[in-house]
Amino acid sequence: MKEQIEAIQSEALAQITAATDERTLDDARVASLGKKGSLTLVAAGIKDVPKEDKAAVGQLLNAARTLITAALEEKQAALLEIADRAALAGIDVTLPARTLHSGSLHPLTLIRDEAIRILRRMGFALADGPEIEDEFHCFDALNTPADHPARNEKDTFYFDSGKLLRTHTSSVQIRTMESAKPPIRIICPGSAYRRDEIDATHLSVFSQLEGLYVGTDVSLPDLKGTLEYFLRELFGTTTEVRFRPHFFPFTEPSFEIDVKLTVKGQAPRWIEVAGCGMVDPAVFEAINTSRKDNAFDPEQVTGFAFGMGLDRLAMIRWGIKDIRLLIENDARFLKQFA
Ligand code: PHE
Repeated sequence: MKEQIEAIQSEALAQITAATDERTLDDARVASLGKKGSLTLVAAGIKDVPKEDKAAVGQLLNAARTLITAALEEKQAALLEIADRAALAGIDVTLPARTLHSGSLHPLTLIRDEAIRILRRMGFALADGPEIEDEFHCFDALNTPADHPARNEKDTFYFDSGKLLRTHTSSVQIRTMESAKPPIRIICPGSAYRRDEIDATHLSVFSQLEGLYVGTDVSLPDLKGTLEYFLRELFGTTTEVRFRPHFFPFTEPSFEIDVKLTVKGQAPRWIEVAGCGMVDPAVFEAINTSRKDNAFDPEQVTGFAFGMGLDRLAMIRWGIKDIRLLIENDARFLKQFA
C-alpha cells in the first residue's frame, strides 16, 4: 500500500506541475482528491489494513493529501498571477492617474433646499403642479380679472390652445385647494415664466417658492411670525424684516417683504425678497365653485400666502450681480459652490 500511495502522490504532483490553466488544474484535483480520485479510493481500503499497520498507513495518506493540497494551492496562485500579468500587459501602471472632477450642487438648488428645510420644520409639506397651465388656475381662480396686465400676451407665454406657461406657482395652491380640505399647509417650489426682456436682473424663466396656509384660525400675526422666522433662519437671526403694504389680486391685505442686508461689497440696504398677504375671500369662493362644495367657506376659513424668487435669494446670498450666470452653466462660476 505504501508504494501505491507514493505512486499516486508523484503522479498527482506531476499532473499539477503540468497543468496550464484552471481547468487542467481542476482535472488534476479531481483525479487524486475527488470523490472517485485515486487517493480517495486507496484511503477507502484502509479498513482492510492489519490493525498494527493502520496508524502508519493513515499517516502516509494524510501526508500525501497535505502535499497534494499544498501543491494545488501553490499552482492556483501561480496561474492567477500569470493571468493578472497578461491582463495588465501594455498598461503602464506608473503613469500619473487622471484627475477626477466631482460635480457640485447648483446655487439655485442649494438655496431652494435650504428654504425647503426651514419651511418643512415649520410643518409645510411639498406640493407640485403642471408648468403648462390654464387661465383658470393661473388667473381666474386667483381673482385676477381678464383685463389685468399679467394676462396680456406681451407678459405671458400663451399656446395656440389657450394654455399658458404659468407666470407664478400660485396655480399649485389653487390645485391643492381643489383636491384637499383645510387645514392646508404647503409650499410649492418650481419654475415660472414671464415675457421679460432678458437683462442682469430678469430672465424669461425663474424659480419661485410659494407657500399657503389655510385653516380656521390663521391670522396676520401668523403670517408675520412665520415669514420673519423663515427669513431670519435664512439670512441670520438678527436680520431686520419689514412688511410694506402692497397690492396682489389674490390677497387682502397684501405686503411686500424687505430685509435689511449687506450684499457682498455693498452698503446695508432694504431689499425686497417676497410678496405675501391674507388669502382674498374671492379666491375661496372660486375654489368652492370649482369643488362644488363649501369646504373653503370664507366665513369659516382664513389663510395666508407668500411667494418669493429663489434666483433673487441666491443673488443676495452670494452677491451674484447678473442673474444670467444662474442659467449659463459656466463651470468657472459653478465651481465656486463646490
Ligand atoms: N404670486 C405672486 C407673484 O408671483 C407672489 C405672491 C404669492 C404674493 C402669494 C402674495 C401671495 O408675484
